[in-house]
Amino acid sequence: MTTTDNRHNPDTETASKTMHAIVHRSFGPPQASLTYQVVDKPSISDDEVLVRVRAAGVAIGDWLTVMGLPYVARPQYGLLAPKHPIPGYEMAGIVETVGAGVTGLQPGDEVFGWGNATLAEYVAIPASQLTTKPSNLTLEQSAAVPISGLAALEGLRDSGGLRPGQRVLITGASGAVGTFAVQIAKALGAEVTGVVSTGNVEMVRSIGADDVIDYTTAAITDSGSRYDLILDLAGNRSLGELRRALTPSGTLVIVGGSGGRWLMGFGRTVRAGALSPFVRQRLRPFISKPTLENLETLRGLIESGQVTPVIDKTFPLRDTATALDYLASRHTRGKSVITI
Ligand SMILES: NC(=O)c1ccc[n+]([C@@H]2O[C@H](COP(=O)([O-])OP(=O)(O)OC[C@H]3O[C@@H](n4cnc5c(N)ncnc54)[C@H](OP(=O)(O)O)[C@@H]3O)[C@@H](O)[C@H]2O)c1
Repeated sequence: MTTTDNRHNPDTETASKTMHAIVHRSFGPPQASLTYQVVDKPSISDDEVLVRVRAAGVAIGDWLTVMGLPYVARPQYGLLAPKHPIPGYEMAGIVETVGAGVTGLQPGDEVFGWGNATLAEYVAIPASQLTTKPSNLTLEQSAAVPISGLAALEGLRDSGGLRPGQRVLITGASGAVGTFAVQIAKALGAEVTGVVSTGNVEMVRSIGADDVIDYTTAAITDSGSRYDLILDLAGNRSLGELRRALTPSGTLVIVGGSGGRWLMGFGRTVRAGALSPFVRQRLRPFISKPTLENLETLRGLIESGQVTPVIDKTFPLRDTATALDYLASRHTRGKSVITI
């Protein structure tokens, strides 16, 4: 990653009209396509809040956005060049100023939320996309919550219809979404089985999984157990294999995907949606739609001690490209965080 300009002096940053940010001008490997540089601070509209970002969570979705993958998602990212010149989807920080129409938040409040362009010292975020951070978490921990925590909550409860007492299988249970999903499923009263590699078996047990399948030594169908809900985060099993592990009227929620650069599992998701009306099992494609109500639900689960973010590594803002390369391994544990 290139560092192009260091004019900025942190001692005068509050008064300054500029800030440091990660800038993304073309799709490709993070080291080649991201720069750490000084840009103009964002301005806010009446319904927005200017936040001094202290930490920003990153996940595989950030790497995909920088790469412009899969190609089928390019209209969403920008056809020829990135739509958002500053990447990042979530953050935690301190309110600097609020727009004229914003109520309930004021300068100095410690907040967390989701939005665009969070890999920067300041971000303008709609007031409807942030709220007070959990009282028992640091800003660094809080920044890890919104995107992955909301995907886990929505996938299990809203798409999956999870009810107390049900048996749920979570593939990719040790990753960013998975570590939230294990804890949220337990909080919702489920019996939870996580699917992980050998080195993550104990970690996933320690965050509450009742049972763990080590996918390096067993298939999800080997034990003969059947699950009411499968949350498929790993995205690398066939529909047939996943359906064989479901009860006859069980629900499969397809969150992750893997495969070629054009579709990355999108074909499997489309096939599941097309097949679902003709079988008893419910096969549900999933696209996260974050809401403030759900973020507040997550805050409640965190403050009651039922959910704690699992933080893998932290990186300074200027090393964002290194962080994204690390995430691309797809064997990270929990969430990585950029500190600012
Ligand atoms: N549709 C949406 O709105 C939405 C929202 C959020 C995320 N997603 C997608 O959901 C997926 C998960 O996201 P994430 O951020 O949690 O990813 P992640 O952190 O990169 O997940 C990595 C995890 O996957 C596990 N894994 C790798 N190979 C596996 C296998 N063969 N079987 C089981 N687990 C395996 C790894 O565990 P081991 O190291 O133990 O192998 C690791 O813990 C991604 O595809 C992401 O793009 C979709």
